[in-house]
Amino acid sequence: MSSDTPTSPAEFLVISSSLHPTSRSRMLAQAAFERLQEYSQAQAARVAWVDLAQLPLPLCDGQTAYSDPNVGPLAAQIRGARGILIASPIYNFDVNAALKNVVELTSRAWQDKVVGLLCAAGGGGSYMSLMPFANSLMLDFRCLILPRFVYALGNAFTADAVQDPEVLCRIDQLAQRLVEVSLAVPPPANP
Ligand SMILES: Cc1cc2nc3c(=O)[nH]c(=O)nc-3n(C[C@H](O)[C@H](O)[C@H](O)COP(=O)(O)O)c2cc1C
Repeated sequence: MSSDTPTSPAEFLVISSSLHPTSRSRMLAQAAFERLQEYSQAQAARVAWVDLAQLPLPLCDGQTAYSDPNVGPLAAQIRGARGILIASPIYNFDVNAALKNVVELTSRAWQDKVVGLLCAAGGGGSYMSLMPFANSLMLDFRCLILPRFVYALGNAFTADAVQDPEVLCRIDQLAQRLVEVSLAVPPPANP
């Protein structure tokens, strides 16, 4: 599902963080990937796809985990991207632990990225749940967080796709904005 080439990282990256086999946030990520491909192709840019359910990663221990063979290539994809869309489940009023673990493992690769966020949740009351994660990216790594989150409940989905037209519209707006803002911001001098 990637238009990336092995020689250079793609300008845009979509990360799906749910480990659930029939994840709804993965459906958000897939819809966002398609929209992002369209907007980025118009700018001759490429989009890569990372699904944490398909990428075994160690839990970050602050030491040996960094040398896991999957960590370096993931960090390189993140470091090389100008804009990143992340789709996560809401677990206990936050993103899931798998996503937090990715940030712990890849850390400074996130410096100065433009980031858009999508999430699937069980109820409407958790709509502020992305803020601790957004704060961490902003304050730790100076990421520019797009102020247009996609927040979707179960009724926005069929068994295998996003169906709610409003959610689809927000995904489209988020993908378009990610491309616009990412290409307007100069890339970091030493990515
Ligand atoms: C461990 C766990 C914790 C959850 N915590 C919340 C929560 O705090 N707020 C909420 O709205 N939904 C919560 N949910 C519901 C999930 O966000 C919902 O099932 C969502 O679709 C999961 O995303 P996924 O389908 O991409 O895996 C939780 C689900 C699990 C399994």
